[in-house]
Amino acid sequence: MKKKPILSLTLAATLSIGTLGTGATFAKPMDSVQAPPIHVVDHKVINKISAENIYQTIKHLSQQPRVAGTESEDQAVQYIKEKFESYGYDTEIQEFTFVGYTAPHTVELSIDGSDEEFQPETFTYTVSGEVTGGLTYAGLGTKDDVESVDLTGKIALIKRGSITFAEKVLNAAEKGAVGVIIYNNAEGSLSGTLGEASEDYVPAVSVTKAQGEALTAKLENGESLTATINVQGASTGEKTSHNVIATKEPTKPTRANDDYIMVVGSHHDSVAGAPGANDDASGTAMTLELARVYKDLPTDTELRFVTFGAEEIGLLGSSHYVASLSDDEINRTVANFNLDMVGSKDAGDLVMRTLDGEPNLVTHLAQASSKRLNGVATSYGQGGRSDHVPFAEAGIPAALFIHSPTEPWYHSPEDTIDKISKEKLQDVAEIVGGAIYYVAKFDSMGPKPKAPKKQKAEQELYHEQNMK
Ligand code: BES
Ligand code: ZN
Repeated sequence: MKKKPILSLTLAATLSIGTLGTGATFAKPMDSVQAPPIHVVDHKVINKISAENIYQTIKHLSQQPRVAGTESEDQAVQYIKEKFESYGYDTEIQEFTFVGYTAPHTVELSIDGSDEEFQPETFTYTVSGEVTGGLTYAGLGTKDDVESVDLTGKIALIKRGSITFAEKVLNAAEKGAVGVIIYNNAEGSLSGTLGEASEDYVPAVSVTKAQGEALTAKLENGESLTATINVQGASTGEKTSHNVIATKEPTKPTRANDDYIMVVGSHHDSVAGAPGANDDASGTAMTLELARVYKDLPTDTELRFVTFGAEEIGLLGSSHYVASLSDDEINRTVANFNLDMVGSKDAGDLVMRTLDGEPNLVTHLAQASSKRLNGVATSYGQGGRSDHVPFAEAGIPAALFIHSPTEPWYHSPEDTIDKISKEKLQDVAEIVGGAIYYVAKFDSMGPKPKAPKKQKAEQELYHEQNMK
């Protein structure tokens, strides 16, 4: 393999003053009142991009949620594969397994001695079961709190706070409780996660602060209450998810960039209950459109268009993909463009997020292309939470493309096609399409990129969210 040339300051400087790889410079300085002209090479890409195509693909994908490991994800995977193939790509489905949780279809709570109509929520990894027992107050459910309470055969009533939901359930179960009710310590409903599966859990549900306090008051009054918790359909087991990979080899593999790989990616899965039009059918549809646009363009860089599975349960697909790369492929991968939530009408402006908050080849390329196209360089900042993270952790320059602030429909049943803006789709696709072309175009003579030293990736504590 050829040694990767240094991503010299020249590249960053070249990009930021608007010089193009062909040696041409913008007609006017960047601080001119007029936006710089779009260079003729960008037109080869942007003229081909169709926001209508992207929109129609989002419409198709967002007919239903696409939860990883379910049949609806399989259908999306098949659809994506067929689209790539219809453009003429060799397409690989990369399979991987994970231990996944299926949420219950039934969650009920009734209490003899209370007229309250409960609408209990549950916690991810809660186990199924129908259990009845005397309701018993157990404070915050810490080891100390449960020490002095007889919970044998009882349903423990526990307040949110101090320790994780899982610790509360395990502490109560260890003392013989057959079920647990956790009540909120703030307004609103409570649905968190137990963090991981355990055989030692007992069925656990949540109620509101007001309901929990009313029950506590009754118990303190000496009333005796019997609670029944019914959770059905919850299960934990091995599931299968997939990445879909379409590869475009360099058109003429003799030029300077021919050992580089650039990855354009997005996640095709969604959270339960959300059709995920913007998160992330938008990025998936844009990945497909860029693959279509690039199919017949002469390029000297290997392009991989990848849609990842199981992003929403911990970046599993992208982690699996990066782990499956050889050292040589990691070395040759000079960029990951991660398209996640790129089309909402109701979100803010396009931004880029890098894991360490520092600029890298991807942000440089996209800043230069956005300046060429719109006269304004897309801004960047720090952010994880998506599929660029495993790439960055492997030392590959990577950035998330997203609009900020996030739309109110994020992860909700309202994340539907009617909230998608074709203008936003066109804008992001042009910026990313133009950025890739700067390196990938066949006649590229510009300075060659190089992956920076392995970034010290800050381990983000995703799994600790919603656990307390
Ligand atoms: N698209 C989101 C990430 C996101 C949303 C980033 C809003 C910035 C602003 C992604 O699909 C997601 O929901 N990620 C999870 C984390 C992941 C590790 C499970 C999240 O942010 O909760
Ligand atoms: Zn997402």
